[in-house]
Amino acid sequence: MSGTIKSCLAAYPRNPKGFYAALIELGGDSHVFWDEQLEGWIVTGHPECSSFLRSPALGRQRLRLPRISGAEGLIDFADSILLAQTMFDDSPDAAELRREMPQPLTDMDVHGSPCHVSQLTDTLAAAPRGDHVFDAYSEMLQPFVSRMICERLGISETDRLSIYPLIMRCVRFLDGKLADMMGMLESVHALTVLYTIAASRIETSHVMEDQRHRLISNFLQWLVAGHESPAFALATIFLHWPINEQSNGRLTASRGWAMKMALESMRFDAPVQMVGRVAIDRLKVRDATIRPGDRVFIHLGAANRDPDIFDRPDEFLIDRSTSPVITFGLGESSCPGRSFAVRTIADFLQIAAAAGSWIQPISETLEPDHGVAGRGLKCMPATLRRWPITVEHMGLRNE
Ligand code: HEM
Repeated sequence: MSGTIKSCLAAYPRNPKGFYAALIELGGDSHVFWDEQLEGWIVTGHPECSSFLRSPALGRQRLRLPRISGAEGLIDFADSILLAQTMFDDSPDAAELRREMPQPLTDMDVHGSPCHVSQLTDTLAAAPRGDHVFDAYSEMLQPFVSRMICERLGISETDRLSIYPLIMRCVRFLDGKLADMMGMLESVHALTVLYTIAASRIETSHVMEDQRHRLISNFLQWLVAGHESPAFALATIFLHWPINEQSNGRLTASRGWAMKMALESMRFDAPVQMVGRVAIDRLKVRDATIRPGDRVFIHLGAANRDPDIFDRPDEFLIDRSTSPVITFGLGESSCPGRSFAVRTIADFLQIAAAAGSWIQPISETLEPDHGVAGRGLKCMPATLRRWPITVEHMGLRNE
């Protein structure tokens, strides 16, 4: 059986069930296949992905951008930004730096900012209901997530609006969504402009020159890494959790309900599709042999649909008793924005539910925008519906 992630995406752009089934079939009994376009192994089984995420036999894949004649200076600079980011760095001091990530995003106790909570509440209250169609993805979900992240990083709303297009260009690059060299150049340019803006605003007088570059580069990583994924997880909920069937037409706005929705959504269609590593030692995956230097992509999306681990993997079930979800990676190197992401998604759901509002997508007009590394949407036309609600404990600061 041969194929690539891109061919599976092209065959099933709107159908996650078909897409993951095609990937799992390519993995076959070995739970791994060679992707000729990515020039690397794609690991699809849950047990193998879980053990690879923690394996010392795999290191971080360093990114090296393709050279383009006439743009060497720009590309070299963008390369140096990416290489300074902990995501692509295996050295011991990268591990140290990872532990010093911005507190406002890793703090477990912070709930939705009162300002953004009331802003979303007002938006929902003012939004026309009934048959009025709007793009819920770019008008509601993406701005909410973006505001939450930028506020935590100390970026004002005016600045956020002006840098938002630059951030989204970088997101497209990281998610593997660029179709051509021109797109890549635009992203590289956006990254370097963001760097210049960040460098003029972040306080770095207390660190040495080489530390300064790493600090700014990592700030950008924090800014960009979580911009698309929570918005896509929210869209997945509205697309795949039919409120009328599973909830008897009622919403229960408890924190527990919202957290369970967030976790099942990220299992159902992993927003970050895979984690790239490089083999340091020889590895065996059933009957396949991975050699030192080979690129390895741990496919979280396929692992989250492994039928040997998840009962009825293609169904959106919020009451799963076992959920070894590996959507955020595992161990030391797993996503540091994990709890912030889950809380942001849960906040949105609780605010919407408390307002008795629910986004009802018009699925036939949905425009997907999936990359090999990250899922996303171009737009999600939807209407806003009013639903009866049972409010339990809200757990938001502006109650
Ligand atoms: C649905 C939401 C999210 C998902 C599914 C997700 C998933 C992931 C995954 C799989 C990784 C790679 C882990 C590894 O290499 O083993 C990662 C890394 C990272 N994520 Fe997230 N993430 C999400 C949201 C966020 C948010 C909201 C932020 C910050 C605001 C964030 C910041 C980061 C950073 C900085 C890294 C790189 C860490 C490092 O290796 O140095 N993520 N994320």
